[in-house]
Amino acid sequence: MSQIQPEVREALPDLGNAQPGFGAARADIAFEVNGTAISVNVPPLRRLSSVLRDELLLTGTKVGCDAGDCGACTVLVDGDPVCACLMSAASAAGSVVTTVEGLADGRLSALQASFLAHGAAQCGICTPALLVAATALLDKRPNPTETEVQDALGGILCRCTGYRKIIAAVMDAGRFEPSADGAAPHPPAGTFSPYSDGEKGEASALAAPSPSSSRGEGKGEGQHQPQWFDLGLDRRMPISGNAVGSSPIRLDGVPKVTGDEKFGGDSFPADALAVLVVRSPYYHAGFTFGDLDGWAKTHPGVAGVFTAADIPGKNCFGVIGPFADQPALAEGFARLRGEAVALVAGQREAILDLDLSDFPIRWTELPHVLQSCEAKASGANLIHDNRPANLLTSGFVERGDPEAALAGAAFTVSGAIDTSYVEHAYIEPEAGYAYLDGDTLVVVACTQAPYMDRDETAKVLGLAVDKVRIVPTATGGGFGSKLDVSLQPLIGLVALKTGRPAALVYTRTESMVSTTKRHPAEMKATIGADADGHVIGMIFNGDFNTGAYASWGPTVANRVPVHASGPYATPNYRAEGRAIHTHGPISGAFRGFGVPQATIMQETLYDELAGKLGMDRLEFRLKNCLRNGSETVTGQLLDSGVGIADCLESLRPHWARAKADADTFNSANRNRKRGVGVASCWYGCGNTSLPNPSTIRVGIAADGTVILHQGAVDIGQGSNTVITQICADALGLPLDKFRLRGADTAISPDAGKTSASRQTFVTGKAAEKAGRALRETILRFANVSDKASLQLDRLAIVIREGEATRRIDLASLDVDAEGFVFRAEETYDPPTLPLDAKGQGKPYAVYGYGAQIAELEVDLKLGTVKLLKITAAHDVGKAINPLLVEGQIEGGIAQGIGMALMEEYIPGRTENLHDYLIPTIGDVPPIETILIEVPDPEGPFGAKGLGEHVLIPTAPAILNAIRHATGVLVTKVPATPTRIRAAIREKEARR
Ligand code: FES
Ligand code: FES
Repeated sequence: MSQIQPEVREALPDLGNAQPGFGAARADIAFEVNGTAISVNVPPLRRLSSVLRDELLLTGTKVGCDAGDCGACTVLVDGDPVCACLMSAASAAGSVVTTVEGLADGRLSALQASFLAHGAAQCGICTPALLVAATALLDKRPNPTETEVQDALGGILCRCTGYRKIIAAVMDAGRFEPSADGAAPHPPAGTFSPYSDGEKGEASALAAPSPSSSRGEGKGEGQHQPQWFDLGLDRRMPISGNAVGSSPIRLDGVPKVTGDEKFGGDSFPADALAVLVVRSPYYHAGFTFGDLDGWAKTHPGVAGVFTAADIPGKNCFGVIGPFADQPALAEGFARLRGEAVALVAGQREAILDLDLSDFPIRWTELPHVLQSCEAKASGANLIHDNRPANLLTSGFVERGDPEAALAGAAFTVSGAIDTSYVEHAYIEPEAGYAYLDGDTLVVVACTQAPYMDRDETAKVLGLAVDKVRIVPTATGGGFGSKLDVSLQPLIGLVALKTGRPAALVYTRTESMVSTTKRHPAEMKATIGADADGHVIGMIFNGDFNTGAYASWGPTVANRVPVHASGPYATPNYRAEGRAIHTHGPISGAFRGFGVPQATIMQETLYDELAGKLGMDRLEFRLKNCLRNGSETVTGQLLDSGVGIADCLESLRPHWARAKADADTFNSANRNRKRGVGVASCWYGCGNTSLPNPSTIRVGIAADGTVILHQGAVDIGQGSNTVITQICADALGLPLDKFRLRGADTAISPDAGKTSASRQTFVTGKAAEKAGRALRETILRFANVSDKASLQLDRLAIVIREGEATRRIDLASLDVDAEGFVFRAEETYDPPTLPLDAKGQGKPYAVYGYGAQIAELEVDLKLGTVKLLKITAAHDVGKAINPLLVEGQIEGGIAQGIGMALMEEYIPGRTENLHDYLIPTIGDVPPIETILIEVPDPEGPFGAKGLGEHVLIPTAPAILNAIRHATGVLVTKVPATPTRIRAAIREKEARR
């Protein structure tokens, strides 16, 4: 029974593989892969990427779009880079194909070693493609220029790194020419994992270059060039002592450059059913099903169709319990385009080419609203009956008397800014599989929040929490969106219902239409200053379009009012943030939780206010910034650790130089003008006024290894390495003695979710406590003081204090159930206080700070922007691993560039990586990082969080630079050429 109308079929999200599958004619196709002649029997039009991954199990080749847009599938064919997703198997016949697995020959290639040493791989999902494309370049041009590298890698997207370390790694690869000690050994597949249960991970084979940053000294141009350690034996580990503050290669780095790393879609069981999700083509629609069983029977290879009626538990999930409102499968009507309504499971080949145009569902389209202003208008239809005015929730902070302050201000400025949906655009779409292990459902998938996934999946499927086990795979970028469950309950449902493993990889379009976005914001604010230039009052109002379901909307609504002042003393203040439901995409967590949007509002007004005061823009910020002893807008006294002034001070010489450069250029050019902008950030690390604990377990095994249960998911940011470094120094043993047990809800203690810049601070603090507790246990056992040193000598611990040496034979000790002879487990929960009705309290225990300068050039005729340089000063308290810190800063800046200049997700129009633009390797200018270390007494070794902060100042600094260059402020972000040009025209018309 076909009840779907033709125009609806057109509108259905791309359900993926339009490639031949079940029943298609096959042929023997022979070619060479990585030096081995092979022959495969596949449909000739099967994508080469699929053949490599699914037939030959060379999963180092990744798939991010299946459309030629992301470049993740790049392989070499007869020495030239090609997108394997665009090449048929038949076209590869007789060719020589090289994948990432073919780059190392028992040892890492020079380029792979250089990638590790430079920290050029974060999540690593793009890394195989970059490596093979760069290998082809280096074969032709052993010493390429930066432009040549950018040209060669221009078709490969990376969402994590900001590309600068990739460029440096390729340009410096020649320094790693293999020699006796020139490259790290390439371990056998499967034995080189920091998560290994049995094998010893040789994760620390190379030392990194010294960081490309300056340390709080505001060094001049060119300081970002890497310095190198000698390439001989001394760059090998172990690091003995002082792991904190050094930059060993990331402990999980080698599998990322060899292709061994297993992401969500890389290890499906051979007998897994493939799952297809039927989704709503409408923003708002009712629907009824026809004869689903009858339809399934007429489609060979389909094992079953599942709907909400099959869900055994509560068909409702949501990351914040009281606001949970999202069905795993919609019941009777859909509230957003792309909402899941049914699952089709079947043999993989059958699912590959399944035509859903006759799927028995009848839709009735209903009215929808996509803008916050429409949704909150009186008389608007309610998206959830229990949420009047479509208001999900609001956050509020008030201090002093802002109206009176503004009325008495010598100068005031007011403005309004709108921002757009921003898509996370991680290169790895959601992927995973589920299976039953006895009566336990095991879900193996990419994620940022395994314990939340477990709880949500158990609730939906009606299982006890201990009957769901989440095993995270490597995660190819998350940035907030993979905090929410996506496919976990869906594949879990199929596995439960069929008793068979069930596997699913979202298509790119499916990922984009159905997962969360950055909230579009409609903001207004007024700020006033006295005649001396002190800010005395501010009022902020913001509506944040939270889409059809709650997700992290409450967090955004609450975080924004706390942060909308920026890191500046603001004695009289009122800010309200509202999360408004629409039928748009669900807005959730995305690096900054609404603070980047609010900062655009505040920082652009600060420039205007400085102008009215006749003050230098940087000096105005320095005059008003928070300092030790300041009170925040929530009344929190900041006793110590406030580093924003240090950040701004460090920018002074760069600011002066950049402005002088711009003046010189502008006096000689008429149609192109240069501008310089500055903006700051602050960001509270961890949950807002809520419990936020992490637990770390560490122990010593009888074989002398230190086993660290590290449940904080490393999605590329480096927590595997950073948390181990912290624990190593707290314990007093070197990094190379450590073996990691990664997140697994059945094994590792809960280290919370990877979000809100909390892992280095919160889980790091737990690791510090656990390391110290383990050390204390050993010292007490040996009856020595805390001045004693520890050393592991094969099967013994050697303890030295003064002249005395004590040797503990580990084999002589009792071993507990987990194999430990000594163990410790510690939990840390940051001390916060609830906010009262006026938003007064202590929402965070630790804040991080930063400030950035953007230098750019605007073509006044075209409205195009060319970024020249970003200088970024960030107070991280203590740089546990300076190279990883830099990587976070550069990656955050790249995302800020996208937000400022190009990224605008438009439902129904930009649902792929062709129409939705993110920065490429040519869009990110040189970045100079200045690391500021103002220790926070609460953080581990003084460290603060960083991941969110780094994106926040970039967009406002760019907007301020555009205004400096052109005299116009673009009030709808992103500032596309069309909008810049329109603003310039408007200004010209006013003359
Ligand atoms: S998967 Fe081939 S270009 Fe994206
Ligand atoms: S490291 Fe490039 S996408 Fe993550």
